[in-house]
Amino acid sequence: MTNEKKPVIYLDHAATSWPKPPEVTEAVMQAMLHDSANPGRGSHAMAVRASRILFEARKQLSKLFNIKNPNDIAFASNTTMALNMALKGFLKPGDHVIATSVEHNSVRRPLYFLEQKIGIEVTYIDADVQGHIKLNDLSAAIKPNTRLVVVNHSSNLLGTILPVADIAELTAKHGIKLLVDAAQSAGILPIDVKAMGIHMLAFPGHKGLLGPQGTGGLYIAPELELEPLLHGGTGSQSEALEQPLVRPDRYEAGTQNTPGLAGLAKGVAYVLKETVASIYEHEWLLSQRMLEGLQPIPGLQLLGPAIGEARTGIVSFTIESIDPSELAFILDQHYGIAVRSGYHCTPLAHTSAGTAATGAVRASVGIYSTKADVDALVNAIEEIARQYKV
Ligand code: ALA
Repeated sequence: MTNEKKPVIYLDHAATSWPKPPEVTEAVMQAMLHDSANPGRGSHAMAVRASRILFEARKQLSKLFNIKNPNDIAFASNTTMALNMALKGFLKPGDHVIATSVEHNSVRRPLYFLEQKIGIEVTYIDADVQGHIKLNDLSAAIKPNTRLVVVNHSSNLLGTILPVADIAELTAKHGIKLLVDAAQSAGILPIDVKAMGIHMLAFPGHKGLLGPQGTGGLYIAPELELEPLLHGGTGSQSEALEQPLVRPDRYEAGTQNTPGLAGLAKGVAYVLKETVASIYEHEWLLSQRMLEGLQPIPGLQLLGPAIGEARTGIVSFTIESIDPSELAFILDQHYGIAVRSGYHCTPLAHTSAGTAATGAVRASVGIYSTKADVDALVNAIEEIARQYKV
């Protein structure tokens, strides 16, 4: 996998993948130039072409996630919006929700809001230092009013992969619905909503699915009825005051991001062509090379699963006596290496990992990352650590 134009060593794919396959960029441009009328509004040729673009994106996503009816996918501008749609649309006063300590703020903050505003109850299962949870802890947290378990498929700090199918087996026994945050796993780990017992799947378009920013969505199992997050124009049943019941209109008020979704359709097609398995293998091998290169550096502490274990392409670390933000700044300014430092919008995961006081540096690989990118990071960190005389 190569891409010729690469001015920086980009190791921030967990935030946004870059660069995109050329066909993604091309599709965005073509949609802007030729097809950007309003999808679902108007019956003229360009509006119909715009509607087809949305359908194509839904179709590709359905193939990837084994979703029977593409209309069970509602587009959103990112995973945060999709998670808000799911949590605020599903939960009712008095409900109990179980989540984990590796959840992102895009789960934690809406849950806190709902706790304060409508009186839900939330239990967080503590992950261990590597980000793994115990099914027994989950089982013990279930109460008569537990209606939902929400779980991060892969930690955006640690790369740890959570056992979604096992969790689903447990929740199904209790009639509890399962919401999966696929921010770090869509396009990287196999996801089959049917086989894995997932009732709602929130996913970004701009990370592992290789689409533009401002794209993403929520799969909603056909038997679930959510209160829509947004109310407004859908281009359908305009005379009715109530939001239409028909999907996807019910959950997609307002004009959708046609150019972005044109790009997302191509991004997902690219993932399907390359295969999720080969993308995972590529990213896993690079993460292992990075772990092996970084491990011997004096004062460096690796976070997440041990070398050799399953993980997504995320490697976070700290170095004794170097502030993570300063380290990321030096990498950027002196070495042209882009990483993310700080708390990564997941303070509870930092507590689990033991880095709540310091934060960490996170390097994350993507489809176009190479061994040379990884080696450049390792060499830079060795040099910086030597200069700081750790
Ligand atoms: N949630 C994204 C990250 O982990 C933005 O960086």
